[in-house]
Order: sequence, then structure tokens, then C-alpha cells
Amino acid sequence: MIRKIKNICCIGAGFVGGPTMSVIAANCPDIKVNVVDIDEERIDKWNSEDLSFLPIYEPGLKEIISSCRNRNLFFSSNIIKHLKCADMIFISVNTPTKTKGVGAGQASDLKWVEASARQISKYARSDTIVVEKSTLPVKTAQTINTILKYSKDNQLKNHKEKKFTVLSNPEFLSEGTAINDLLSPDRVLIGGEDKESINALMKIYLNWVEEDKIFTTDLWSSELSKLIANALLAQRVSSINSFSALCEKTGANIKDVSFAIGLDKRIGKYFLNVGPGFGGSCFKKDILNLIYICNHYGLQEVSNYWQKVLDINEWQKNRIINEIVNKMFGTITDKRLAIFGFSFKANTNDTRESPSKFICKKLLEEGSKLAIYDPKVSPEQIKKDLLDENHPQDKDNLEICANQKEAATGADAIIVLTEWEEFKNIDWESISNLMRSPSWLFDTRSVCNIYEAKALGINVWSLGFGK
Ligand code: UDX
Ligand code: UDX
Repeated sequence: MIRKIKNICCIGAGFVGGPTMSVIAANCPDIKVNVVDIDEERIDKWNSEDLSFLPIYEPGLKEIISSCRNRNLFFSSNIIKHLKCADMIFISVNTPTKTKGVGAGQASDLKWVEASARQISKYARSDTIVVEKSTLPVKTAQTINTILKYSKDNQLKNHKEKKFTVLSNPEFLSEGTAINDLLSPDRVLIGGEDKESINALMKIYLNWVEEDKIFTTDLWSSELSKLIANALLAQRVSSINSFSALCEKTGANIKDVSFAIGLDKRIGKYFLNVGPGFGGSCFKKDILNLIYICNHYGLQEVSNYWQKVLDINEWQKNRIINEIVNKMFGTITDKRLAIFGFSFKANTNDTRESPSKFICKKLLEEGSKLAIYDPKVSPEQIKKDLLDENHPQDKDNLEICANQKEAATGADAIIVLTEWEEFKNIDWESISNLMRSPSWLFDTRSVCNIYEAKALGINVWSLGFGK
């Protein structure tokens, strides 16, 4: 008999926890799903009546939320109450790279995962399945298991028939397409030892995912698969970005090259878009983690190999900054630069590890005046990301704009850093009239109609275009 789950609790109402639980609730009306978070302000946003105030922007999210919020989907900061009644608990808290101590700069900081495991051990009352959703270093499940079982607060230790089991169920959603990725996943991966728990989780997914897309394995293989999947995707981005530079030097065109190589079924067309380097909360962190693990096991050559993927990513951002400064006659001091796009990719308001953030900081350091426009990132977030007390002068050099035209007015250059749809259809005629001459376009995503911009007298540099 397959165990029936009635109450799910998810710790962490972030970019992963929020959308994932919404999709589970929408597809499993018989299961009550409580998403809890220590951040009360974030929870209030998830509960806001006006859905445009949800804490994250994700296409399709509003519709899913409105279909099941307060029906069987609830957001709350009362963690203890919901842990007590859950029979399945997802851990979806953030696991950033450690900034100090052992493994600083490489290993993931698991303090919140550990804190979550301790809370679960203390408050869970039922036979409980604990599911790792956060991307975690290999063998974290073992740690969670140990904490759950041996914590002196363990509430289940005197109940022979009740126990904790741990599963790994990594999330492969990509921000910007999260809802679609969750509704039609390429695969669902479940790692674990306990067959009954695996079947219980599988049964939830079977409400909307075909059985042949659900793959079960052991805990370690599941945890490692997530890290390796992200490393391989990031490697493709670094590979194509490295070739963007070669195309520029040799007169080739990276878009045509990407298209031509992507036609080979063995290579495939995805993840071959050039850009200012990969960002987001996962790629860099997961590769650093992989490097840390490889070093730990004495696999120096393997860790050196993956370090290069990160090195190319840094190099790409720096070389873009150099191109901008050099092309604009060697100085950008006091020049107004219109920045189009601040999120780490299109269709999200997430700015974690956004290449725009890094590039904008450097451009401010060079003394330029930035006029930033992003369709979804809030002005507060942009200021939080760029301003700090060590650089008080940056405040006067930063303007957050409400649209393209406002940013372009009086600008010496437009720098496109995120591939938002609207940047593919810029009205170059009106924009060029607003800019100062000589004017520049730096298209780091290779999305603009550069021929139209050139025809209007704008100087154009498009990443990966040698002509
Ligand atoms: C996820 C994954 O969980 C992470 O491992 C992965 O690598 C990146 O994506 P994400 O949902 O994007 O994290 O992170 P974030 O949006 O920061 O959300 C995490 C939430 O957990 C935050 O809202 C934070 O307040 C909450 N949290 C953190 C808790 O509720 N309790 C804690 O103890 C710590
Ligand atoms: C990634 C993984 O794709 C997802 O499976 C995992 O669960 C979390 O990490 P995410 O970071 O949300 O998802 O977005 P993704 O689409 O992978 O993009 C990551 C970065 O690579 C972005 O900065 C994006 O702009 C960049 N990228 C991606 C490119 O520069 N070129 C590409 O062709 C693809």
C-alpha cells in the first residue's frame, strides 16, 4: 500500500519553494500545503491580495497562486505550528557559498539546512518524510539523517512506529520558465533508501507527471546529479562565450556559429546563447561546491578543469567592461550610460550573481553616470545591489529609470545586459534621437536589431560579431 500524504510543509518561501509548492498544491487539491519562512515580510508579500506584489516575478505564477492560495496553499511564518502537523517536509532554504571559516569561498554554507533539520527533529509529530529541495553538497542527506535521528530533542525517538526518512528531490526549474518547467519537467529525480517514502513522493508527482519521467536512485547519486547538471550547463555557456571572443577577432558571427553547431543532434541547440557570463544563485555556487568536493577527494585535475569554467565567466565580464571603455575613447568618466536590463536573465526579478551587477559596479568605479532600466527589478533592489557606504559618490551617479526612453535621454551609450523581449524590438529611430552624439550601442546578449541601429548612425559593438 502506498502511504498517502495529507499535509506538506515547505521551509523556505523563495524562488524555489514558492513556485514548487504552488504547482504541487494546484495539482493535488487533497493535500494541504503550508509554505513557511522566517522572513515575515516575504510571507506578507506571498499573501498580498494584489498579486503584483508577490515577492518574485515568474510568468504564470500569479495564475497558479490565485487558483489555490487559501484553498490548500498557505503561506505562514508560524514554522512550529506547521512542522507539527506535516507528514512530508521539504527543505528549500538557501545554501550560499561560505564567506568565512573552513571552505570559505567554495563550500556551501549549510547552517540553515542544519537549523531546519534541528527544528524538524524537535517539532515533527508524525511519521515524517524529509525532502531535500535545496541544492546541497553530496552526502548532506546523511547529515540531515544524523541530526534528525540523534538530536536529543527528537520527538519521534520513543515511537517505534514513527520515524524520519530522508529523500533527495533536486529541483531543476530555471527561473523565468519555472512554472512551465514544474508543470512539464524533463525528469523528476528522487533519491532515497526507503521504498515506501520514495513511493509516497512519487505518488504526488504522478498527479501531473508521466511515470516514465520519474527516475529513482540512491541519495548520493541524486544529490550529485543536480550539481553535475548545473556544472555542464554552465560549461556550455562558458564554452560559447569563449568562442564569442574568437569570432570577434576573426570576423565570424557567433549567432550563425551557434545555430550551425546546434543543428547537430549530438550537440543540440540549447544553452548556446552568448552573453555577459552566467549569473543566478546556482551555477557559480554549485561549481565552487564541486571544486571543493573534488579537492577534498584529492581530484586536483578535475577541480582545475571546472575552475576554468568559472574563470572564463569572470573574464567575459571583464572583457566587456574593457571593450566599453576602450571603444568610448578610453574614458567613460562623466559619460551617461543607459543600462538595459539588471536581472541575471530575462523574465525574472532575481539579481543574484547577475553579471549586470558586477559590470555596473565597475562602470561606476570608472566614474560614469548610470541610468538603469529593468522591466521587473525594483529600484530598491538595484540600489541595494549597487550602493554601499564605502562608495558614497555612487549615489549621485545612479539613476533608476522607468522605461527605455528615460534611460536613453542624453545617454552616450546603451548597454544591453539582459535579453528581455522588449530589447529585441527597440524603436531605434526615437531612441537615437534622444542620445548624445557620437552614440554607442553595446549589445552583450546579441538580441538587438544592430543593422537598424547602425543605419541611424549609432556605433555598434555586438558580442561575438567580428564584422
Ligand atoms: C534555492 C535553493 O534552495 C538553493 O539551494 C539553490 O541553490 C538556490 O535556490 P532559493 O529558493 O532560490 O533557494 O533561495 P531564496 O529565494 O533565498 O529562498 C530561501 C528562503 O528560505 C528565504 O526566503 C529565507 O528567508 C528562507 N529561510 C532561510 C528560512 O525560512 N529559514 C532559514 O533558516 C533560512
Ligand atoms: C539553473 C538551471 O538551468 C536549473 O536547472 C537549476 O535548477 C537552477 O540553475 P537558472 O539559474 O534559473 O537555472 O537559469 P538558467 O536559464 O540556467 O541561466 C543561468 C545563467 O546562464 C543566466 O545568467 C543566463 O543568462 C545564462 N545563460 C543561459 C547564457 O548566458 N546563455 C545561455 O544559452 C543560457
